[in-house]
This record gives sequence, C-alpha cells and structure tokens, in this order.
Amino acid sequence: MKLNKLKIGKIETSGNLLLAPMADVTNLAFRLLCRQNGADITYTEMISADALLNRNRKALLKGLSSPADRPFGIQLVGSSPEKLREAAIFIEDEYKPELIDVNMGCPAKRITGTGCGSALLNSKTAVYEIISEMTAVLKTPVTAKIRILEREEKTLEIARLIERAGASALTVHGRKAKQMYSGSSDLAAIRAVKRELSIPVIANGDIRDEESAEATLDFTGCDGLMIGRAAIGNPFIFKRIKHYLETGEKLEVNRQAQQLEDLKTYVALLEEYNLCSSTNVRMHAHWFTKGLHGSRQIREKINNLKDGKALIELIGNYSQPK
Ligand SMILES: Cc1cc2nc3c(=O)[nH]c(=O)nc-3n(C[C@H](O)[C@H](O)[C@H](O)COP(=O)(O)O)c2cc1C
Repeated sequence: MKLNKLKIGKIETSGNLLLAPMADVTNLAFRLLCRQNGADITYTEMISADALLNRNRKALLKGLSSPADRPFGIQLVGSSPEKLREAAIFIEDEYKPELIDVNMGCPAKRITGTGCGSALLNSKTAVYEIISEMTAVLKTPVTAKIRILEREEKTLEIARLIERAGASALTVHGRKAKQMYSGSSDLAAIRAVKRELSIPVIANGDIRDEESAEATLDFTGCDGLMIGRAAIGNPFIFKRIKHYLETGEKLEVNRQAQQLEDLKTYVALLEEYNLCSSTNVRMHAHWFTKGLHGSRQIREKINNLKDGKALIELIGNYSQPK
C-alpha cells in the first residue's frame, strides 16, 4: 500500500494524486471527471493576475468552481507581488479555493516574456516577495509550482526561499525551463528538493502509468504525485494508478470503451455547467478519441458540428465500428 494521505496546510486528503494545472485542459468539467476517477486535488489552469484585476474578469472566471470539485486549487500567473496578492485576495473572497498556487514553471515565451512563469526563478527576491506578500494576507494555503534550475544548489536555494516565505507545499517538475518538454523528468533533482524541505513536496513530470507512478514515489520519497499530460483524454489514469498503489494489482480495462465513455461524461458535464463551446468539445474530443477504432470518422463529424447538443447526440450515438 503506497497511497498515502496528503496534508497541505489544514486540508487533508485520503490519497495523494493531484491533477496538474493545464491551460485549455483543466476546466471545471475536466477536473470533475478526473475527480470522479480518483484525483484527490485538482488545479485550474493558470489565470493571469493582471487579467483578474481588470474589468473583464467575469468572462475569465465563468464556471470556475463547483462544490463538487473540492478540494481544488486556483493557479495564478503574474510577476508583480502586489498584483498577485490583490488577485489572490479577490479569488479567496469569491471562490474560497482550498489552495492558491503560483505558476513559477511555465516556459512558454508569451509567459516568460512578461517576467512570469519560469522567468520568476531568475530572481530570488521576486520569488520570496511574491510568496511572502501572499501568505501574509491570505487565510488560504499558498503553494508554488517550479521547474528545476541549471544547478541543483540553485534549485534548492529557491525551494528553501519558497518554504521560508510561508508556502504550504511545493510542486517540482523535474525539467529545466529551456528543455520545454524534451528529455525526461529528473527524479534525483526532485528527490533533493524533497530531502531539503519540511513542507510537502509534490513530484511532477512523466507520470504516465502505474509503474512510473510507483517509481516516482519510491525514488523521490515525495508526498504526492501530480499528473498532467497522461490525463489528457484519459482521466481514467487516476483510477488505474490509485488502484495499483493501493493493491499492487493492475485494473483490466478496455481502454477504448473507457475513453469513449469518459468523453460522453465530459460533454454531459460541459452541458450541465453551461461550458459547452464547440472549440472546447472539439479539442477534447480529439484527445479522447486518440487511438480509437474509427477515430478519423468521428473527428471529421465533430469538426463539422457547431452546436453542443448535436455533439452530445453524435457522441451518444457513436459506437465503435466492429
Ligand atoms: C497543454 C498543457 C498546458 C499546461 N498549462 C500549465 C499551466 O497553466 N500551469 C502550469 O503550472 N503548468 C502547466 N503545464 C505544465 C503541467 O502542469 C506539467 O507541469 C507538465 O506537463 C509536466 O507534467 P506531465 O509530464 O505529467 O505532463 C501545462 C502542460 C500542458 C501539456
């Protein structure tokens, strides 16, 4: 039995599997689906602190949370400690998430170009100020998500600062920013951070099946596992990993039937929460139908549909070609 409880600040979950924040992916419907499959904590995609503080925030925050998706974290991205603090106060008041996370790992140019995401890791002062400004005023536990740095000592320095500034947990993606998604996640670097800190450390990067989940937990000794890409179009990954960590046995599943079932539930959840847009459904339908027999036909049909109801009907009536 390797599935442990996870305690971050005052929140405690019976398992330690977290859904990673992912732009355009981890909307409320997708998070609910991952939760139904066993995710213990979910994170929203990154939300810009600047955008949150301007008047258009209503559209940005449409369908952000539901009592069914708890405990969850809202991830903020920004570079100004004051704006991040103000944005965090706003979301704490409005949404009362269990966690507020700061994105210190995104390597995309459009993010680092404005000094946000992994660019923050270049400035120890900025990292410390951001976390300490937030923890000084918020009741909600603050977490941070980083990538590793060029040298281990630099990574540990940043990790220690984040802890000292009052963060309640730290997620480490074991790649450097310049790697983007190439190479593999460095478990030894994650383990070094885990050994250095007293707050919970969550391991992230390349957890894609039962074996990689077990190996990451065993090797790093981390308090939790955060899963990103492997959950896209495949939220069932949480059930598989959870079952394996609890029993040491693998679940037998017809992956194709499961993906189709999950796609139907996903679209139904989008409808229920009034989040159905054709772009969103198309994107996720592509992911969910990956590897499915006849996926080309269903994708073509999906591409030609405009309205959410028709999409639900199409997916509802779809049965795999024999
Ligand atoms: C489509 C996509 C969107 C992402 N968006 C975010 C984001 O908004 N915030 C963040 O901290 N990381 C983001 N990430 C990074 C993931 O959270 C995670 O750190 C990374 O994918 C490594 O984990 P994995 O190997 O399990 O996918 C994103 C990754 C992908 C693939």
